[in-house]
Parts: sequence; structure tokens; C-alpha cells
Amino acid sequence: MTIWDQHALISPVIDSEIPSSSSKTTNDRPRLGIMASGSGSNFEAIVQAVQSGQLDAEVPIVIYNNPQAAVVDRAARLGIPAVCLNHRDYASREALDGAIVAVLRDHNVNWVIMAGWMRIVTPVLINAFPEHVLNIHPSLLPSFKGGRAIEQAFQSGVKITGCTVHYVVPEVDSGKIIMQAAVPILETDTLETLQARLQVQEHKIYPAAIAIAAG
Ligand code: GAR
Repeated sequence: MTIWDQHALISPVIDSEIPSSSSKTTNDRPRLGIMASGSGSNFEAIVQAVQSGQLDAEVPIVIYNNPQAAVVDRAARLGIPAVCLNHRDYASREALDGAIVAVLRDHNVNWVIMAGWMRIVTPVLINAFPEHVLNIHPSLLPSFKGGRAIEQAFQSGVKITGCTVHYVVPEVDSGKIIMQAAVPILETDTLETLQARLQVQEHKIYPAAIAIAAG
């Protein structure tokens, strides 16, 4: 069991093989519009990868939908402009997505990065950025799609779960997979300890998967 305590299995590349910066010009660099609903730890991991030069991209904007979301504090600390689009202010998912598209276009975004975005997105957003919308999900897809994925896996009795970065398509959590990390569920785990270990892996694979998709 101890080998699993510290390590996770990441595919298709391992930690030391994360693609390195390819020194693009400002004009070539992918412009990532990040969408987050909560803590924003994945947002921060992506921004840190950019600011450290590991991921050759720019992050001109983060959009959040919950006015209380802690991601706004991370954005302020990291110097990333943040815009709140509260889903309660919109009559439909499509109306919210239309407003999101407008903000993303205003910031010349060409890749949309859902990082803990807890709203189902519609073709209004997906078709505005064809094959350029990514999501991270806290399970080894196609297992445990949808909400409460960590809890679903924990309660199911599986011994290995993980996280997945994938393209977004209209069917929830069903797009082509870019990268996954497998994380064991230990006898001693609680939901909180499992989530903490999953997030360590999420923070590694999301910047790496963006480099693969947008590189
Ligand atoms: C992450 O664990 C992500 O996988 C999950 O929300 C968390 C956000 O954490 N996303 C989903 O469940 C999407 N269905 P963060 O706000 O600290 O990045």
C-alpha cells in the first residue's frame, strides 16, 4: 500500500515528461479563459504553470458564477482579471452561456478552460469555441460522471479512482479524454483525504493537458 501513498499513475505522460514551454510569440500563445465556481485551486495551478514559464499561454480572464467563490481572492493575488456572471441573473443556461461567450470574446480568448465550473454548459458556449473547451472531472471517466463524483467513487467500493481532463461536448463528461491520473482509495481514506490527494494530481495534469491540447 505504501507505494500508493506518495505516487499516482498519470497517463499519457508522467510528471517528468510534462511538455515544456515552446517559446511562442505573444501572437501565437493560447489565450486561456478560465471558468471556476469555487475555491479555484485548479485555476491557481494553471496560472502558476503559466507564470513560471512551464505552460506557454496567457490567462487574460477568469469568469466565476458564485459571488462568494474564493477564486476571486486567488485571482486578485495572482493579478488575473476576474468577472462575476451570477447564474441567478440569467433566465436560462443558454442566456448565461451567451454572456460568458461575450466576455471571453472581449478578452480575445481562444481556449476555454473549465476548472471547477459547476454549471452544465450548452452548445451556445461549446459551439462558440469548437473543440477548444476543456474540463477537469474528479473521476476516471467514463466512470462516475456528473455531480459528486468523488463521493460516488468512494461509496462504490472501487480501489482506484482518479481525475480526467477532457474536451467538452454537449453530453456531460463524455468528450474525448486528453489525460488522466489514477489515485488509489486507501482503507484509511475519508472523502476529505481522498479529495486532497485527487487535487494534487489535478494540479499536475491540467496544465500538462492544456499544453498537449493547445501546444
Ligand atoms: C475539482 O476537484 C474539479 O475536478 C471538480 O471541482 C473541483 C474544483 O476545485 N469539478 C467537478 O466536479 C466538475 N464536475 P477547485 O475550485 O479547487 O479547482
